[in-house]
Amino acid sequence: MNIVILAAGQGKRMHSDRPKVLHELGGRPLLAHVLATAQTLAPRRICVVYGHGGETVREAFADAAVQWVLQEPQLGTGHAVQQALPHLDPDGPTLVLYGDVPLIRAETLKPLLEAAAQGSLALLTVELDDPAGYGRIVRADDGRVLRIVEHKDATPEQLRVREVNTGIMALPTRRLAAWVGSLQNDNAQGEYYLTDIIARAVAEGVEVRAFQPGAVWETLGVNSKAQLAELERIHQRNIAAQLLEQGVTLADPARLDVRGSLACGRDVHIDVNCVFEGEVVLGDRVYVGPNCVLRNVRIAADTRIEAFCYLDGADIGANCRIGPYARLRPQTQLAESVHIGNFCEVKASSIGAHSKANHLSYIGDSEVGRNVNVGAGTITCNYDGANKHRTVIEDDVFIGSDTQLIAPVRVGRGATLAAGTTLTKDAPAEQLTLSRVRQVSIANWKRPTKTPK
Ligand code: UD1
Ligand code: CA
Repeated sequence: MNIVILAAGQGKRMHSDRPKVLHELGGRPLLAHVLATAQTLAPRRICVVYGHGGETVREAFADAAVQWVLQEPQLGTGHAVQQALPHLDPDGPTLVLYGDVPLIRAETLKPLLEAAAQGSLALLTVELDDPAGYGRIVRADDGRVLRIVEHKDATPEQLRVREVNTGIMALPTRRLAAWVGSLQNDNAQGEYYLTDIIARAVAEGVEVRAFQPGAVWETLGVNSKAQLAELERIHQRNIAAQLLEQGVTLADPARLDVRGSLACGRDVHIDVNCVFEGEVVLGDRVYVGPNCVLRNVRIAADTRIEAFCYLDGADIGANCRIGPYARLRPQTQLAESVHIGNFCEVKASSIGAHSKANHLSYIGDSEVGRNVNVGAGTITCNYDGANKHRTVIEDDVFIGSDTQLIAPVRVGRGATLAAGTTLTKDAPAEQLTLSRVRQVSIANWKRPTKTPK
């Protein structure tokens, strides 16, 4: 079985320099959705017909196991399929999909493939209240499909038909090759219409069967930013429905955006306006507060992410409390029961169990042990302007507020750093280390006053 994905169209109405199929839906290019669905059908070959802006499309999918076929110039859908023909396995059927119809489901396509495997031409059609612009399905009085007439070629009577061609079809590959090879472009648009093969099938006595999708949105294409936004909402609504079905609590299913994959344990609770990007895994009973962005993070059971957190590339243990207003950056590893509070940033650091940095801190390129208390305003000065250096803070350390640790530096187990310390050398274990100017008071000091002009 072959799958041909048509993706050569220019997408003029997107008003964009980017090829249409690279515009994103749910954080992935439109074409990625179609490819993923195609792959679930395990075809022998996937051919992508590309054209406008072509090389950037190929580059975006450099690792995909697909045959790329350039269509230049673009002379219509029939011409597009013709370019793919030399690459198709002639035995078995070919399924035609569209790079700009991202939400089509494999369950909808399977019956078409089965019909095509039995020698039929299988079409996917839908009934629309407003069929303007689409090819109309012309049926005989007994209901048999006779042909497809494009909107621009249709008679007033044909224009009243509300059953339209979605463009998706499956048919025996040898038949497809024969029919596509003899298409004419004597029509209103001067194009080689793939849809003309339906009348050919009927003329040759090949059965034409029309199938309908479970939902119309599966067949909607993206031609404009408005349609892209509409499909994005449908896609997000579907994801939210799946999460609810699995038992996730969503404060508002309409205010959740998943741009990648979100795996949730039991009794997960997600508050409003959260964005999930890349691969996110939430353990049992995790709570994510309102207005959080989570990108490529794993969070173990019972952890609470309070409002307004930005978490990127972090691995967070069980029973932690993060935020509100925390930022975790890539390569952050938090063990269990860690607290990272407001206006704290952690980057490329590991923090041991039961350690806390509750206020206004920067921890970068550091290794922090267990039961460490990081006082408000503590900064690991990891960057000397040229190179990054590491800070090691061993177990049971207490760091007073407003401390700077000038890396590379090590704080020994159980050490205490007094508030306001600027640590330039290692601090020994168990001792109090402080670097402060001794406090003085000047008795008869007067504030300066303004000199009269
Ligand atoms: C096509 C169908 C129409 C159907 C409609 C559904 C034909 C002749 N008409 O019309 O019956 O109702 O889709 O949306 O097939 N493409 C190429 N190369 C080309 C032309 C198009 O790859 O030379 C690709 C486009 O990128 C797009 C798809 O084919 O993904 C459909 O092209 P489009 O121009 O949108 O077809 P329509 O005229 O809308
Ligand atoms: Ca179209």
